[in-house]
Amino acid sequence: MTKRKIIIDCDPGQDDAVMLLLALACPDELDILGITTVAGNVPLDLTQRNARIMCELSGNTDVPVFAGCDRPMNRELVTAENVHGKTGIDGVDIYQPDMPLQGQHAVDFIIETLLAAEDDSITLVPTGPLTNIGQAISGQPEILPKIKEIVMMGGAMREGGNTSPSAEFNILVDPEAAHIVLRCGRPVTIAPLDMTHQAMVTRERLEQIRQIDSPIGTAVVGMMEFFNRFDSEKYGSDGAPLHDPCTIAYLLKPELFEGKMCNVEVETDSPLTGGHTAVDFWGVTGRPKNTNWLYRVDANGFFKLLIERLKG
Ligand code: BDR
Ligand code: CA
Repeated sequence: MTKRKIIIDCDPGQDDAVMLLLALACPDELDILGITTVAGNVPLDLTQRNARIMCELSGNTDVPVFAGCDRPMNRELVTAENVHGKTGIDGVDIYQPDMPLQGQHAVDFIIETLLAAEDDSITLVPTGPLTNIGQAISGQPEILPKIKEIVMMGGAMREGGNTSPSAEFNILVDPEAAHIVLRCGRPVTIAPLDMTHQAMVTRERLEQIRQIDSPIGTAVVGMMEFFNRFDSEKYGSDGAPLHDPCTIAYLLKPELFEGKMCNVEVETDSPLTGGHTAVDFWGVTGRPKNTNWLYRVDANGFFKLLIERLKG
């Protein structure tokens, strides 16, 4: 099987952290060229540290980690410590990792790696605000033909918003960057709230993860217990949606997901609805279908895959 070459761009965040652990557990399928980090759930100095902690926890200190943009393209940073805790990954032991942070800026790494690659060869997997990707595309549009696909977590249609009444966090933080990505002309697949809210970390699933009984299992349980608290209270649900790992699960087993090609545009101007994703699910506008919008997941299949891979 040919491995898929990917660059993961993230803002860990407990769910980003689980996404990293899942991706790092799949060396036969995924060739992770680098992990780039961005300011989002918590500031950049914490997201890059958290990514390195996940690499060390899973014994993958050879995967290079880069720090990117410390604020959105055009606006002030909005963070989400209320959801993720002060560290971003509350629930695990926090320490300063030994593995180095790469000296190169994440945006330069993305540009350099793509420019050196063959056409259609690299998949970008953003699970935070799209600032690094937006900067790379606008700074060096020649990278576009090299991108095979962008598989990202963000946006919502039926679910409304989780950070404002009509916007999801990743898009709300940097709508201008999201606009660049959605208009880039390369294949885009989106894992939005509509779908991730079907992938709930219920008490039963948390117990199944607990049975993994390894340092990785313990870390995931600790982070999920913390993460579950906020959303269970907010939504009155049994657990929280496990957003970001859906991107990697889609790469591994797309048959777990149902999607539809739609036009998706981002609201960048309105103070009321900024960051809203306008999804033309029923094709009423005639605008070009720029996105594979994932609207359903086989949640049991998703957690089975996650647990199997985390077990190693
Ligand atoms: C997204 O926002 C962040 O809080 C999560 O890490 C996820 O990427 C969900 O809206
Ligand atoms: Ca994230």
